[in-house]
Amino acid sequence: MAPAIYSPPSERVAVVTGGNKGIGLEVCRQLASNGITVILTARDEARGAAAVEQLTAAAGLSDVIFHQLEVTDAQSIARLVGFLKERFGKLDILVNNAAVGGVQPLPVQDVSAEELSGMDASQRYEWMWKNVQETCDAAKEGIQTNYYGTKNVTEALLPLLQASSGGRIVNVTSEWGLLSYFRNEELKQELNDVEKLTEERLDEVLAMFLSDFEAGDLEARGWPLAFAAYKVAKAAMNAYSRVLARRHPELRVNCAHPGYVKSDMTRHSGLLTPEEGASNVVKVALLPEGGPTGTFFALGQEAPFV
Ligand SMILES: NC(=O)c1ccc[n+]([C@@H]2O[C@H](COP(=O)([O-])OP(=O)(O)OC[C@H]3O[C@@H](n4cnc5c(N)ncnc54)[C@H](OP(=O)(O)O)[C@@H]3O)[C@@H](O)[C@H]2O)c1
Repeated sequence: MAPAIYSPPSERVAVVTGGNKGIGLEVCRQLASNGITVILTARDEARGAAAVEQLTAAAGLSDVIFHQLEVTDAQSIARLVGFLKERFGKLDILVNNAAVGGVQPLPVQDVSAEELSGMDASQRYEWMWKNVQETCDAAKEGIQTNYYGTKNVTEALLPLLQASSGGRIVNVTSEWGLLSYFRNEELKQELNDVEKLTEERLDEVLAMFLSDFEAGDLEARGWPLAFAAYKVAKAAMNAYSRVLARRHPELRVNCAHPGYVKSDMTRHSGLLTPEEGASNVVKVALLPEGGPTGTFFALGQEAPFV
């Protein structure tokens, strides 16, 4: 039997991953304020429902719907796909926002507003770096969530994005995913050569990274240092986005760096508010039809991947 599709054809539907807090929650708010029906997803039902309540009851936005999504869980992804297929029959915008830091935070207090006021961005990064530990488990989680989570959600939602007349994907990236952090020149060039690069090769590169991480060989082998797993996962996600953009010219697939934002991920050490960071993502999500694809946007402006 054909699925029941309740949405009027003009309704635009967006999915945001990791929508329960931080930048993701603000992306949901801003998309919904632009008249888009937003599926706010979160891995935790209670946190997700509370976030939807915040947007609907408190902010008066009616078109925000919760759906559970753990991006590393194939069954959870499949349930979201089933829900969207039945309810809307298409997806117009996918914002892959969910991510982790790829490090083990040390049990210290967040930096106070007073301390922060005297610190520039690099001093704030240094503060973050001093208060984390790089462990194999956290690095693996970083690669699994930030790269494979994004990729698996995207691949599962591709048919629904193709059913839209203007399907678009925004992968929330970071300036830390720039290829300039790679000191292995050959690898840097390979990751930048998106005509030749394949997803299979990206799998090999990530396996190589984790094996060098375990062996304590990151420095010797020219990998990015300090928050290494985060940087490598975001660089791989950027490369995948460019490969995907070539594979699917009918879609718009872009990467957006929101800026250095006060959120749980940065322990509230950032320079921008979540609203400001989210607006740099939403700007890319709402680019006019026929706009750029396979492009990196930093703070809302086109910029190089290197
Ligand atoms: N903050 C910055 O300065 C900055 C800079 C550059 C890029 N970014 C990027 O911006 C995005 C949002 O970051 P943020 O700063 O808003 O961080 P955040 O406040 O820590 O939020 C991260 C979100 O991702 C969710 N998440 C983590 N793992 C997940 C999983 N396996 N499945 C589903 N959801 C998962 C979290 O859910 P829980 O609440 O359940 O943990 C949370 O909703 C990330 O992609 C990050 O890399 C941030």
